[in-house]
Amino acid sequence: MQIERLSDALGAEVTGIDLTSIDVTTFEDIRAAFLEYQLLVFRDQHLSPDAHIAFSERFGPIETRPDRPFTLPGYPEVSVLSNRVVDGEPVGVISAGDFWHTDLSFSEIPCRATFLHALEVAEEGGDTEWSNIYMAYDTLSDDMKERITDLKGIHVFDRRRNRRAQVDQQFVEKADKVYGIPISDAVHPVVRHHPETGRKSLYISPRFVVGIEGMDDQEAQPLLDALFEHQIRPEFRYCHKWKKGDLLMWDNPCLIHIGRGEIKPPGIRHMHRTMVLGDRPH
Ligand code: SIN
Repeated sequence: MQIERLSDALGAEVTGIDLTSIDVTTFEDIRAAFLEYQLLVFRDQHLSPDAHIAFSERFGPIETRPDRPFTLPGYPEVSVLSNRVVDGEPVGVISAGDFWHTDLSFSEIPCRATFLHALEVAEEGGDTEWSNIYMAYDTLSDDMKERITDLKGIHVFDRRRNRRAQVDQQFVEKADKVYGIPISDAVHPVVRHHPETGRKSLYISPRFVVGIEGMDDQEAQPLLDALFEHQIRPEFRYCHKWKKGDLLMWDNPCLIHIGRGEIKPPGIRHMHRTMVLGDRPH
């Protein structure tokens, strides 16, 4: 197994490995690399849904929600992300992750690791970009660190309640169906400790965080705007151009990410995704 860093901010490419057959030592090496680089890119993987699930489950329990739209038939653990439309109906989530976010932060127990496998990729567009929120926290001024140290962000799934994550026109009709699902809000520390490394990250995102608990919006919104802008400074980021067969896994407590979309027709981008649950943020 070879590991090569992808950017100064985060990410490494792992080669010489077949994820369908890894022994205990290799698994421990992957875990260590995951903690060190936060995002791992495995090229040329051919994972059936069962193999995708089996690899993900080694890192924790997979999140399943009975009302999640676009899961793979027979596999509630696997979401389909796709821009393919058959007989006028989308076969997967078209615009997953189109604002900076960290997965499932609107849940009491958010996602620890996400595993996204590219079955088809478009020639142009469909990149995904990550930003390192350890670095975002580390580079705040001491005054700002002090100011936010005990604050808690309010994380909301329903984007109709978030002026920073408005639904695009093509989505409006379906928004009631998707966002009408009653999912309660979650409140998490703005400064989160990583469950394994203990490092602090700036655990907010414009997609899900709409306010700060106990702070009026006149004070909270400008503070959030400043922190959101800081979180995505170019030097914290890595943008991935997908290849067919890529399996990427990323560490949600210390990264935010965005799906860049802009797939040039007639390109098709078709992916399978699993999400493994983590700890209650503290
Ligand atoms: C996601 O946000 O989970 C998916 C991102 C992507 O499809 O690029």
